[in-house]
Amino acid sequence: MLGKYRALWLNKDGFLEVIDQTKLPFEQQSKVLKTTDEVVEAIKDMTVRGAGVIGSVAAFGIYTAAMELNESYKVSSSEREGSLGYEKLQAKALLIRESRPTAVNLMWAVDKMMEFLKNSNDLVNDAKRYAIELNDKEALESQKIAEYGCDIIENILKKKNKTKINILTHCNAGWLAVIDEGTALAPIYEAQRRGIDVHVWVDETRPRNQGASLTAWELTQSGINHTIIADNTGGHLMQIGEVDMVITGADRVSANGDVANKIGTYLKALAAYDNNVPFYVAIPASTFDFDIIDGLKDIPIELRSADEVRCIKGVDADGVIREVLITPKDSPAINYGFDVTPARLITGLITNKGVCEADFDKIKEKFIVEK
Ligand code: MRU
Repeated sequence: MLGKYRALWLNKDGFLEVIDQTKLPFEQQSKVLKTTDEVVEAIKDMTVRGAGVIGSVAAFGIYTAAMELNESYKVSSSEREGSLGYEKLQAKALLIRESRPTAVNLMWAVDKMMEFLKNSNDLVNDAKRYAIELNDKEALESQKIAEYGCDIIENILKKKNKTKINILTHCNAGWLAVIDEGTALAPIYEAQRRGIDVHVWVDETRPRNQGASLTAWELTQSGINHTIIADNTGGHLMQIGEVDMVITGADRVSANGDVANKIGTYLKALAAYDNNVPFYVAIPASTFDFDIIDGLKDIPIELRSADEVRCIKGVDADGVIREVLITPKDSPAINYGFDVTPARLITGLITNKGVCEADFDKIKEKFIVEK
């Protein structure tokens, strides 16, 4: 498999192994996922998260499911080679496909895998080969996003006649979220390689703190200058001229260029618009959903457990990871996982094919033929 960084890999026994992101930044642990149920649970409980990585895990989840069918269901060789094996695999694929609703990369990966396996005579090996192929494609797209995104960084610095760039990002769209350098963070890693003085404002990203826990951890690993801010700080920083650009990732982009991303992204886009700060969204091709024309109306928004809002996780003085309640015991809470930023607030989509306007015709021109 291509890629320098690893949120997931195949271990020496041929099983899917992933970084357990629920333990970061406190502990670095991995989990082996040997069954379809374990793959589904890992996506649901966010052991793995981030649109691209969810898609990658889903692709290898189909391979896992094919292995499982071979082992536990004792599929005979004629079944394995015929349509019965495929039908049994389809039932498992559906469970994976439905594990989270918003990131379209999940459905994309499952559908690509099942389409490829339609006429397969060797489900296990073909699934493994194609999952690796999809991952390698994603890794190459991430490299392209890094280059195109960094060109924008250079242009902004030139235009402002500055040598240091301040970039604000929301949630985690680095290598923990997309193979292999992420999307929003890929141009930042490239800026470091090009010797640009880069500083990142990291939104903490309540309720699950993907910014404070994961983005900050990634940037620390790479020695990139950053500051964690409470989610409501970005607007103020923009007003006092401390943000040169915003880059986020996305979980689904509709054909008209509306962007679903982690809850709170929309408010950052509004503040950026009001302060004339360029707001970019970095995505691989698999994040487009051409079946949805109006993202604001039709992108499904995940509702997660209210306890993620009512509680917060951290490490205590003894180094033990604990979750504590931060609200009155009986106060209700609601937990929308994502929001939709309308295309009109987006300066541009940084894609593997260059920068694209968040506009129906421009997207169609560049992408709609092949996804
Ligand atoms: O709920 P999560 O952590 O899976 O949400 C992740 C995000 O919203 C990321 O910003 C998004 O996936 C873009 S990076 C592919």
